[in-house]
Amino acid sequence: MENNTLILGGKGKTGRRVADRLQGMPVRIASRSAQIPFDWENPDTWEAAVEGIQQVYITYQPDLAVPGAADSIRAFVDVAVRSGVRRLVLLSGRREEQAQLSEQIVKDSGLEWTIVTSSFFAQNFSEGVMLPAVLGGAIALPAGMVAEPFIDIDDIADIVAEALSTDKHVGKHYEVTGPRLLTFADAAAEIAEVSGREVAYYPMTPDEYRAEMAKYGVPEEETEMLIALFGEILDGRNALVADGVQQALGRPARDFSDYARDAAAAWK
Ligand SMILES: NC(=O)c1ccc[n+]([C@@H]2O[C@H](COP(=O)([O-])OP(=O)(O)OC[C@H]3O[C@@H](n4cnc5c(N)ncnc54)[C@H](OP(=O)(O)O)[C@@H]3O)[C@@H](O)[C@H]2O)c1
Repeated sequence: MENNTLILGGKGKTGRRVADRLQGMPVRIASRSAQIPFDWENPDTWEAAVEGIQQVYITYQPDLAVPGAADSIRAFVDVAVRSGVRRLVLLSGRREEQAQLSEQIVKDSGLEWTIVTSSFFAQNFSEGVMLPAVLGGAIALPAGMVAEPFIDIDDIADIVAEALSTDKHVGKHYEVTGPRLLTFADAAAEIAEVSGREVAYYPMTPDEYRAEMAKYGVPEEETEMLIALFGEILDGRNALVADGVQQALGRPARDFSDYARDAAAAWK
């Protein structure tokens, strides 16, 4: 059947990796700039995006932790159910209130589901919100010396692609992390080593972070969203390793050092 898998955020960090892995399967990429535009902020765009679709990989922008995210997920799931979608695969974040509500909505949808609840992405340093900071040599965050098991998102894409191309993961909820806890200072040191750049981590108070972001012209709303997000997920609650990658794929999660070696080109 034409276009039977819809990938929300299909040009994003995990979405494009999932699309690469599903080559040969009919896939529709959705985002605001896609051929059939999809915008989380504009529910009028949702119906056309899910028309004729049997399964959806759901990534939510800007982040599943933001207030109101669960309302959007609920409304989208309703549209998907009405449209005849059979399977949902949700990417979620660890121990975030809005994310947990969204996970439950997907579980209660009556459709087949798989949920991948993830730690902080390693690729945030090379493709995401923190790349400019790495290139500038200073990773400054209101995150203290908390430890985090950064995950290589190729592991997430491997699980999601299997969940969309086999029945192995139906009804499974995986908590996925990297295999090792690192502080942001540890991560900066590893990135410095493989890139040959000077990169250091500077813990900041939320007020110092606000002032720093304002210097770079980051919109106030985005800064406040990040402060709230980091305050929620980087307060120590997530400083533990989980074995979801091993459970799902039968192999260990990729280590941060392997990620950093492979991502080094992004920092040259
Ligand atoms: N980053 C982390 O460390 C982390 C950790 C755990 C969980 N998560 C979860 O991961 C999810 C994000 O997945 P991801 O990082 O793979 O995606 P992503 O890279 O953030 O997705 C970016 C894509 O989303 C599209 N997009 C932006 N705003 C949109 C909107 N309003 N409506 C529709 N599409 C929009 C953009 O394309 P257009 O410009 O064409 O619209 C862009 O290509 C979030 O739900 C987050 O909670 C993230």
